[in-house]
Amino acid sequence: MKNGVKKIIVGNWKMNPEKIDTAKKLVADINRRASKSKKSLIVLCPPTIFLSEVRGRKPPKKVKFGLQDVHYEKSGAFTGEISATMAKNMKAEFSIIGHSERRAMGETNEIISRKMAAALRSDIVPILCVGEKEVDEHADHLSFVKEQLTKGLASVSQTEIEKIIIAYEPVYAIGASEAVGPHVIYQRNIFIKKILTEMYGKQKAFGIPILYGGSINVDNAKEIIRDGSVDGLLIGRASLKAEDFLEIIARVESIK
Ligand code: PGA
Repeated sequence: MKNGVKKIIVGNWKMNPEKIDTAKKLVADINRRASKSKKSLIVLCPPTIFLSEVRGRKPPKKVKFGLQDVHYEKSGAFTGEISATMAKNMKAEFSIIGHSERRAMGETNEIISRKMAAALRSDIVPILCVGEKEVDEHADHLSFVKEQLTKGLASVSQTEIEKIIIAYEPVYAIGASEAVGPHVIYQRNIFIKKILTEMYGKQKAFGIPILYGGSINVDNAKEIIRDGSVDGLLIGRASLKAEDFLEIIARVESIK
């Protein structure tokens, strides 16, 4: 995944915006003004119902699309769900998997593992979200993240691991007023690499892009990428304002 791409900037729109016209304008604005961006892979994850229309007949050059979730079965009696096969058929290339807001709705590591397998089977790049709910003095939060990784990746083979992205998103930083400090992000980044090394060996582990997500904004993005040493960002609220999203990309690209 890392080859040739400097940073991966993912916009998670969640259940926004309410109107398709707003969604189309957001994509058009981002695509038009990101034309100078050479170093970023920009992935937008709109609500699935908007995907086909925002992508349009002539897909935007600078933007790739992802879903916010996929189901683990190909088809069947799963009311309200969307499969990875369907996502692929609608030309999505990525999918967020195991976001904490979905975990809060009851999604377990076992379900997430099946979703990872389904995404990879359909040639969708899964962006696996992990992150502790709180930090405690016994370092249980590290065991928590370790378990999310080992169980969430249980279905992912040595070959498939080269096709995934990890997003470290501490739950307390999502939708909050502040992101986690870059030094904490750096430590977690190293911790995640250590677990991935145990699972897949150093060479593969260090090739897996690790993003940070949680209250990214124009003012903290650059420092987080630089000092947290992450490969990109998963952005919620700030991805709904073209101006902010583009400024984040510009600041990240200004890192030498
Ligand atoms: P936020 O959301 O940037 O609004 O905190 C991030 C996320 O949930 O991925």
